Parts: sequence; C-alpha cells; structure tokens
Amino acid sequence: MKDLKDYIEKNNKIIINELFDLLKLKSISADPKYKNQVLKTAELISKILSQAGAENIEICPTPGYPIIYADKIIDKKLPTVLVYGHYDVQPPDPLNLWDSDPFDPVIKKTKLHPNGAIFARGACDDKGQLFMQLKAFEYMLKTNNLPCNVKFMIEGEEEVGSNSLEEFVFNNKSKLKADKILISDTGILSNDIPTVTIGLRGLSYVEVEVTGPNRDLHSGIYGGAVANPINILSNMISSLHDENKKIKIPGFYDDVIELSDTERKEIMKIPFDINEYKSHLDIEEIEGESGFTTLERNSVRPTLDVNGIWGGYTGEGAKTVIPSKAYAKISMRLVPNQEHKKITQIFSNYFKSIAPKSVKVNVKEHHGGMPYISPTDDKGYIAASLAIKKTFGIDPIPLRTGGSIPIVALFEKQLNIKSILLGFGLDSDAIHSPNEHFGLFNFFKGLETIPWFFKYYADLMKNK
Ligand code: BES
Ligand code: MN
Ligand code: MN
Repeated sequence: MKDLKDYIEKNNKIIINELFDLLKLKSISADPKYKNQVLKTAELISKILSQAGAENIEICPTPGYPIIYADKIIDKKLPTVLVYGHYDVQPPDPLNLWDSDPFDPVIKKTKLHPNGAIFARGACDDKGQLFMQLKAFEYMLKTNNLPCNVKFMIEGEEEVGSNSLEEFVFNNKSKLKADKILISDTGILSNDIPTVTIGLRGLSYVEVEVTGPNRDLHSGIYGGAVANPINILSNMISSLHDENKKIKIPGFYDDVIELSDTERKEIMKIPFDINEYKSHLDIEEIEGESGFTTLERNSVRPTLDVNGIWGGYTGEGAKTVIPSKAYAKISMRLVPNQEHKKITQIFSNYFKSIAPKSVKVNVKEHHGGMPYISPTDDKGYIAASLAIKKTFGIDPIPLRTGGSIPIVALFEKQLNIKSILLGFGLDSDAIHSPNEHFGLFNFFKGLETIPWFFKYYADLMKNK
C-alpha cells in the first residue's frame, strides 16, 4: 500500500468537501421534525457507497429509520468484515453555545488540534468516523488493495437506542454473516497515545415522575403544608449515593465482575494527567466512587447520573408556585455482567420504595443495552494493534471506554461475531455537546489505519 499516503494527500480536498456535504444534512433522529433530512442522509450514504464501488446496495426500511446494507464480495473463500456505523446525530442543543452553525461545517485550529479540526454536529460521532470507513474502502477497492470481502450495515437510529436494529439483525442473519465486525465510533486516549477500545459500558435509562398535589398551588397559601414534588425528588435522588459515592440501591453491584489486581495495574500504567483533565473541564476537584482511579471510574465502574431535571416554573422572573409534578431523566452505566433489564427493574422498585406517602412515583423505561468486552488475543484486536503500530509508530494500549454502543453486545448474541472498536476521536471532541469537532489529524490517521487493519486481518486469517 505504497500509494496510500499519496492517495490521501491527492484527494484531501475532495474528501473533506464530500464529508462537509454529509455533515450539512440535519440527520437528528430524536426529533421527528427532521425526518426528511434523516432520510436524505440515508440516500447520500448509499450514493457514497455506490461511488466507492460497493454492490447490492439497499436502503432497508424499518419501523424507524432505514438501515443501509451494501457489500463487495470479491471471493467467497476469503474472510468477511462487516462495517457498522450510524448516520444519525444528536440534537445540536443548546444552539446558543455553538461558535458556528452546527450544520455548516468549518475547519478551525485548537490547542489539541493544531492542524485544524472540523466543527459540526456529527463531525466525530459518527459521520466523520463512518466516512473514514467509506473512503478507506473506496481506496482499497480502486487501488486493488482490498484483501477480503466487506459488508456494510449503517443505521440511522443509534442515538435514540437502535430500536429497529435487533429485529433487522435477527431477520438477516445469513446476509450479515461475517468473520469480524469493524466499528469506528469510539476514540483514542490522545494523538500520542493511541488505544484500541476493548470494552463498552451498558446502559439503563429511565425517566421518573413524582406527583404531589393534583394541580400547581400558591406557594404561600399551601407552602409548608403540602409535599413539594421537586423537594422530594431532589431528596430521593441525593439519597441514591452514599458518602463514598457508592450507589445505594440494594443489589445494584451484585453482578459486577470486579477487576483482578493485574487488570487494575494495567489501567494504572496508562499515562493520565489529572491536572490536565481538571483544567480541560475547568474544575477544581474531581469526584467519584472512593477506592477507584479516574480512569477506572469512567470506564470499568457502574454509575448513576441525573441527565436532566425539571418541574415548576423555570421561565423569566419569579412565580410563586408549588408544582404538581417533578421529573428527572436518569442514566445508569453498567459493566460486565450487569443486565440492563434487571438493573432497570431494581431501580424502579427501589425508587418507588423510598418515596414518602405524600407523593406518587412513576418510572418510565427508556432504551438500554448490555456492556461489552473483547479479548486481546482475538485476531481482530491483533490486526488493529498492528495497523496502529504501522501508522502511529507505537503499539496501542487496550482500553475500556465508558460510552455505550448497545448494538455491539447484541451482534455477539445474535450473530456470534466479535466487534473491533477502531475509533479515532478524542474525549475532548465534544460529541453530543456544543462545538463538536473531529481533528483533521484524527480523520486522516483513521483513514490511513483502516486499510492496514484489513491487510493484517486478512493475513492473520490466512494463517489460521
Ligand atoms: N459513539 C457513541 C458512543 C461512544 C463514544 C463510545 C465515545 C465510546 C467513546 C454513541 O453514538 C453514543 O453516543 N452512545 C450513547 C448510547 C446510545 C444508546 C444513545 C451513549 O453512550 O450515551
Ligand atoms: Mn456514535
Ligand atoms: Mn453518540
């Protein structure tokens, strides 16, 4: 692949312009207002696949947004890699905190990205990373460097829980048959310390509703005499952690597999600058479960966090009112072997049990997913590791991440295929936040690394 760097350099401008066209589409899966834009994005992806040389392209309808399938089978005897990605993005809100239009991509330099980064919603999660995969495939095919078969499955509902994917996978098992799944939707520790993601957390997401009196009340006439659901909800939420920041829900930790001393020592070896971490977030002090390091807390330990809380009057000025209702959205990140359905049930029962008689509590289940870990003696891991060594010049560190891609555990369950998480974002890329960006270094390094992954993987499979 002598021509790989040349190819990237020569096509640099065209590639970035094409990515910009993809980023301009508002494929916000959470908001039905953008349905047309999401569908247009699916069409654009299939066009890009077709131009890249993929075959059997299908925009498969689902009860939600379509899943795009495509493949290139060069020889049935060769191994097959299934590439998964998502073309939907998170809502850009709050809009006023963006320095530029989230759907009008621009390149700007930052401290961590001195060569520039693309600022746009989806630049990193996941359109930018998915586009690396599509362009790497195009390069391999057009330069006779494709060493195995490739299939693509690209969905448009990842950011809202991949609701249609399980059924699609279940109904298309033979079509999706592959030896390995390759996903670029995670990150590396830093541009000097490349990592391969070997674990994802699971997720249980619930919404709670606390109801007090049957209507909003005057806080003078009734205040002090009637339960205030916001006060109560706040108390209930703050009682969910103890002073060591352990989650107090009985049974919550029952299925957690504790790390061995050796595994913990491996994590301690990972270079990590706590002062840089704090200064990046503008915080004076970090906080978390006692007895664990920051890198453990954000990856191998389960969590419970309020993601949103509302109720009562939040408009301009002051309104004196005791609200009838208070709400919160709560996420629990899970680790092996916690089952998300079981955790949701335990949470729901416990939360209701701690409510005083003065209020009613309702718990609504949102989406969830199972945690995932992949072994480092897997051929996919070895290939990823060799590829990174080739393009970054150093061996990557295996790292479990705190984020979730629920579909990965599901692929293992339904298709019995392990996934390789070969993503190139940075934690500081602000995915899901205002000013999301993706470093040009990261994008092009990813594009350069993927063909090497294919080469090494195909080589390893030859010597089975
Ligand atoms: N790509 C992310 C997950 C991710 C990001 C993993 C960075 C590791 C590092 C994915 O799109 C995502 O946002 N997942 C959601 C869960 C999903 C069910 C909405 C998450 O982790 O919150
Ligand atoms: Mn993603
Ligand atoms: Mn995401």
